[in-house]
Amino acid sequence: MVFERELSIKEKKIIAKIIAFVQDKHNRCEGHDYSHILEVTRLSAMIGKRIKERADPFVTICGALLHDIGRINAPNGMFHGIDGGSRTEEFLESFIEDDYVIKQITKVVVRHTPTSMIPPQTANEKIVFDADTIERLALMGMIRGIMGKTGTMEFIIVNKIGKRLADYNKLYFAESKKIAKPLFEETKKFAQRLKIALDKRKREISEVTMGDINQPQIKIKSFMKKLDNLTG
Ligand SMILES: [Fe+2]
Ligand SMILES: [Fe+2]
Repeated sequence: MVFERELSIKEKKIIAKIIAFVQDKHNRCEGHDYSHILEVTRLSAMIGKRIKERADPFVTICGALLHDIGRINAPNGMFHGIDGGSRTEEFLESFIEDDYVIKQITKVVVRHTPTSMIPPQTANEKIVFDADTIERLALMGMIRGIMGKTGTMEFIIVNKIGKRLADYNKLYFAESKKIAKPLFEETKKFAQRLKIALDKRKREISEVTMGDINQPQIKIKSFMKKLDNLTG
């Protein structure tokens, strides 16, 4: 199914208004910048066109455009789905009369992220969830995922990249998995290359310590095992 229907002229004008709004806000945002929003919107349209389930193009596109609005001026992402839902509702009330449509778009925003702890239910909600997840799998998404993160290299690699690899299985639609497959393989290859680089470092450290200090080597051993599990 190619979405449920075509967009009306009125809807296209509203979408143009939302685009101007999110461009203005996300251009000031590091990491989750405007290009992330556009890519998630593009992927949402692609998934919406391929799935068999009925999805509304207006709700899906508006939800995709506004999905990360809660990240603007937020100290961290913990509430960005729920806060984004409130911002979306306030903003849309000024020019969309249909409360049901506003509610549907708001739910897409709230439920696009696991941090809201409310899983997506409708096809519109699942599409944007999948599109956002796929965007994170790509190299740019992975780099954004580790930007500004603190902690040891072990923590960042095992946790952040490991999470990205696990994301693939959380996709709702088979069509999303098809789109994500090459990115998933790319992520796996990236993790494998990191493992080789870290393996090299392990040997170098082992040469430096010459077996005198066992503790670092034990730590490295358990780390490499974790990486093996992730990439194997
Ligand atoms: Fe998000
Ligand atoms: Fe996002």
